[in-house]
Amino acid sequence: MKNSSIKSNCLHIFSNHKIGKKTLKNRLAVAPMSRVSANEDGTTGELMKEYYQSFAQGGFGLIITEGLYTDKHYSQGYKFQPGLTDTAQVNSWQEITSTVHKSGGVIFAQLMHAGALSQYNKYTGHGVGPSAVKPLGKEMTFYYGEGEYSTPKVMNKEDIDNVIKGFVSAAKLAKRAGFDGVEIHGANGYLLDQFITVYTNERIDEYGGSLVNRLRIYEEIITSVRAAVGDDFVIGIRFSQSKVNDTAYKWPEKEEDAKYTFESAKKFGVDYIHTTEFIAKEPAFEEGLSLAELAKKYGEVPVIANGGVNNESDANLLINANQADIISLGKIALANQNWPNLVQNKQKLDEFSFDMFSPIADLKTANAFFKRTVPLMS
Ligand SMILES: Cc1cc2nc3c(=O)[nH]c(=O)nc-3n(C[C@H](O)[C@H](O)[C@H](O)COP(=O)(O)O)c2cc1C
Repeated sequence: MKNSSIKSNCLHIFSNHKIGKKTLKNRLAVAPMSRVSANEDGTTGELMKEYYQSFAQGGFGLIITEGLYTDKHYSQGYKFQPGLTDTAQVNSWQEITSTVHKSGGVIFAQLMHAGALSQYNKYTGHGVGPSAVKPLGKEMTFYYGEGEYSTPKVMNKEDIDNVIKGFVSAAKLAKRAGFDGVEIHGANGYLLDQFITVYTNERIDEYGGSLVNRLRIYEEIITSVRAAVGDDFVIGIRFSQSKVNDTAYKWPEKEEDAKYTFESAKKFGVDYIHTTEFIAKEPAFEEGLSLAELAKKYGEVPVIANGGVNNESDANLLINANQADIISLGKIALANQNWPNLVQNKQKLDEFSFDMFSPIADLKTANAFFKRTVPLMS
């Protein structure tokens, strides 16, 4: 990219931006990250409050929560995962959302159905999927998993209706809990992604076969959530090609799939699209545009780009080259919960270390890691 094009269109990560009817104070978001640190009943606790508060105080304009389960049927994926299914869970989030607002931040709840990738379900004990296809790979041990995934129960129409009802109910509860919007998790190999992925969807009904059919559950969820929460509440959707259990996966029809998927998301009524790739700025296929650029081109709604963006210049490059409107930071934000403030004050960033997830990717382990590695102030 030429320098002149950057200068002539210099937007900068610290300029504000609108998503739906919400204005973000800057273009920096915390990416959704599961931290398996809730109480057994799916309510949040003190550690989670401190965790989300520190991102807000650290200058992030937007926080997207970890994936929250949406019903008491089959949506839960992990032990100690937080949920949005009852009053106790709503009340526990209220303190977090008001803390974020006090610091001038905006917070969206990520709504997640684990489907066949469920490693733990307190309510029903097993997972469901579009088809009886055993997931590739192994369960994640840092989320208390062990061994191979189980083959899911095939979803019937009633199960699909319950999924949609779960997303609608969770979105309404998110509004009650003080969230500014919801992000529907359509990525990373979880239930919705299992519907669009050809090899996990062998259905011959209206939810399988063509991409139109494979995206039907997205349409039904997004339009039903919109009808329930109104136009002022933000609804976003996350898409990826790769999955937690199949990182090399690519959309089979490449740009054609991207075009139809992103055009559909806009038509279904989302306020933004969040794309995630290993490296956000790289071409989505062998050459050409990145996934975020394709989302901008065909989705025509604000785009959040995620993946491997660690420093200020990479983040600005994506914004100024019009590849994305907002950048979400994952692991580097865990190492620097005040990344925006540090960058704005030209201070040094810490490196991320996987040691903070070992043996469990929870907040207790991370806090012990920081105590060990960050010299105590005298
Ligand atoms: C510990 C951990 C938990 C994650 N949990 C979620 C999640 O709940 N929902 C989601 O959409 N992505 C999840 N992700 C993926 C991140 O949002 C992000 O896409 C990924 O870390 C790549 O971005 P990065 O290169 O900035 O880290 C998780 C990632 C990590 C490291």
